[in-house]
Amino acid sequence: MGSLKGLILAGGTGSRLRPITHTHAKQLVPVANKPVLFYGIEAIAAAGIDEIGIIIAPETGDAIRAAAGDGSRFGVRLTYILQDRPAGLAHAVLTAEPFLGSSAFVMYLGDNLLQGGITDLVGEFEANSPDALILLTPVADPQNYGVAELADAVEGATPRVVRLVEKPAQPASDLALVGVYMFTAAVHDAARALAPSARGELEITDAIQALVDGGARVEPHIVRGWWKDTGRVEDMLEANRLILDTLPGTVDGEVLDSQLEGRVTIEAGAVVEHSTVRGPVVIGAGSKLSHCYVGPYTAIGENCVLEHSELEHSILLAGASVANLDGRIESSLLGRDVRLSRSGRQPRAYRFVVGDNSDIAIP
Ligand code: G1P
Repeated sequence: MGSLKGLILAGGTGSRLRPITHTHAKQLVPVANKPVLFYGIEAIAAAGIDEIGIIIAPETGDAIRAAAGDGSRFGVRLTYILQDRPAGLAHAVLTAEPFLGSSAFVMYLGDNLLQGGITDLVGEFEANSPDALILLTPVADPQNYGVAELADAVEGATPRVVRLVEKPAQPASDLALVGVYMFTAAVHDAARALAPSARGELEITDAIQALVDGGARVEPHIVRGWWKDTGRVEDMLEANRLILDTLPGTVDGEVLDSQLEGRVTIEAGAVVEHSTVRGPVVIGAGSKLSHCYVGPYTAIGENCVLEHSELEHSILLAGASVANLDGRIESSLLGRDVRLSRSGRQPRAYRFVVGDNSDIAIP
């Protein structure tokens, strides 16, 4: 089998995260001030895999390359592989075939977050040597995912995968395919034989079904910890909450005449004055807060400026600023260099300069 490789899929358009993704790769949107993609790279590196291919799209590939670099800071070698069009996850695997060769590999969707990493999973794959290992987890809305039907589990035995259907209207179970898969090189032939799905893509779900149909051993692994596909704003906020909950809180910035409660991380060069910060919260390098309340589950990126404002359960990207708003901001995602302020100017009116697909809710 040779040594395992990693394949991270970081193409796609991120349509459900607009307007942020008009200018930003969805895999680079920060969760607890770190791009989602980096959690995937770190999880693969922690499992002992140091050759990782990253599938990129023409529109966002350069930004991803600039952010992740050659991989040395993660202790891995990164190879960028251009997928010229968003033709599906199985198409991405075929695009990566020259990089993967005959190696078995872990495929990781670049916008997925998995608690506890993948080290156990890689161990299970190496110990049992199946043709493929798929991760499943019960969800409330299986029709939005690939869904697996398992044969009735015999007590103590591993259940068998019977059928996999991509986004079924009538799901046969509530077990969704998590965006992390382990494959042998057998998946390439399965992918090559596919026809495009109803949404016009070569589906990895169909490739795995083809492996099952061809008699290959496809093992299911039920995920016990949390899993997040960060495709939508509410998922991003929840992922942010889950990750912030794991941070210890360290103060390297400057704190003046303020109250910090719970686990608060203030990065070097940030200044917090005349404010109350109730963790878990992270405040990025170079940010300045004065006369603010920052509540739990908030991640403030680098070089943000907040004055006389209140916010919680939100993500602010680098350079965002908020000043003098009356109400509290919550459950919000502010993009790079977004400015929100109360001007006090007459006539008293809302004045907006807002990009495509923005979403503003005023009580
Ligand atoms: C993809 C897969 C789907 C899987 C999901 C996990 O969906 O096609 O089977 O359940 O990732 O995140 P997509 O994000 O392309 O809609």
